[in-house]
Amino acid sequence: MKKLAIIGAQWGDEGKGKIVNYFSSHYDYIIRFSGGANAGHTIYYNGKKYVNHLLPSISPETESIGILSKGMALDLGQVIVELETMETDFSGISKRFIIDEEAFLVLPYHKEEDAILESMRKKPIGTTKKGMGPSFADKVSRENIRVCDLYDPETLYERLGNILYLKNKIYGDKLNCDVDAVYQGVLEQFATLRQMGVQFTSAASLYEELQSKKVLFEGAQGIMLDIDSGTYPYVTSSQTTAHGSFTVDMTLTEEDTVMGVVKAYTTRVGEGEFPTELPEEEGEVLRRLGNEFGATTGRNRRVGWLDLPQLRYAIRKSKLNSIVITKGDILNQYDEVKVCVAYEVDGKTVDMPFIANDFRRAKPIYKTLPGWNDVFDLNFLKYITFMEQELGVDVSYVSYGPKTEEMMSKKDYIMHIHG
Ligand code: GDP
Ligand code: IMO
Ligand code: MG
Repeated sequence: MKKLAIIGAQWGDEGKGKIVNYFSSHYDYIIRFSGGANAGHTIYYNGKKYVNHLLPSISPETESIGILSKGMALDLGQVIVELETMETDFSGISKRFIIDEEAFLVLPYHKEEDAILESMRKKPIGTTKKGMGPSFADKVSRENIRVCDLYDPETLYERLGNILYLKNKIYGDKLNCDVDAVYQGVLEQFATLRQMGVQFTSAASLYEELQSKKVLFEGAQGIMLDIDSGTYPYVTSSQTTAHGSFTVDMTLTEEDTVMGVVKAYTTRVGEGEFPTELPEEEGEVLRRLGNEFGATTGRNRRVGWLDLPQLRYAIRKSKLNSIVITKGDILNQYDEVKVCVAYEVDGKTVDMPFIANDFRRAKPIYKTLPGWNDVFDLNFLKYITFMEQELGVDVSYVSYGPKTEEMMSKKDYIMHIHG
């Protein structure tokens, strides 16, 4: 069965939630394979706005199932908050979520550590303070707790004691964490989730079932925030490319669609390289037009023009074979728009760098294109065509508003333009 992966092709917030929601009714399983509550995916169900941080964006009106896979770091308290919101409008929906027992947890002290480290860094990263870095660091240094550990309270208590013994030695009084409170809190959350009907199983044991079902992978963050391929150290702590689908023991093949979500301009939250970033005043205009304020932290998103070398890099890193363009409508009324077509580094014109670090010194070289009054204006189609030529990948869908239905295949879009 052909699979679909929906991946952020820039620095996150491209509109992945909306795009997943558009396709989700045609899929049996929607799998979030990475990240945690640092993500904020805005979707509209029946015209009402929801922001999913951890829950996969399943389709409430069909029978689709959401899997929170072991590539994620899970704050169970946050899962409960999101489920409670969904339950008020879609009673019983909790039963349609599966939590992978091998997923790692974000515990209260991870969020504390995230905030402490950010406050102590000479140059902060600008994290969301949702505990991502500390939880994934504990995973690789073998000091973390997994969902499956919650089945054995006695061992859990001992392990938590050992972990917090070490952390208290490192952080001293700065960390305000009590073993008993963490232990009781997480077991209560586990019990609540089971009462709500959430299923706990290992995605590996679902493997056979997934083979014959329609599977959609919901990416989080964007390729440029990937721990391995992004603008390190200004990245998140997990995989954001489609390769992360291995966390449910699946691989994507050339038969599958790896769809990159591309905003018609670029945004970034937090610190780090951003070659096409607009100067403050110009940026402020676009930020307001696009309502570019973080769905998770409410912070200002930095804004800039579309960056084609960055996108060529992203296409290569995540093997994107399809593109959906979002938010072209936000640029309506601009007389002209700029697009970065190459970089200048040390006086030389260069294309996509092989290492994302090289963005640090890259100065954008722009081409100016005519603007559009409306996304159904021929000039926006020309903008899309220019992108396709430069990127070598087709734009297959056009999104022109936040609502799920404000989207068309490019074929329908072209027919609409030509009446
Ligand atoms: P995600 O993290 O990639 O899911 O994106 P966010 O939800 O953080 O941010 C995208 C924002 O743009 C949300 O407020 C969406 O409702 C909105 N959005 C998505 N697609 C479009 C579009 O085509 N046009 C407009 N105007 N808004 C969009
Ligand atoms: P979605 O899925 C945009 C950014 C943070 C920060 C960096 C590291 O909504 O697109 P972290 O808390 O992960 O340690 O922060 O990564 N970041 C995001 N930016 N969208 C996201 O998710 C992000 N998730 C993390 O702002 O710069
Ligand atoms: Mg977001």
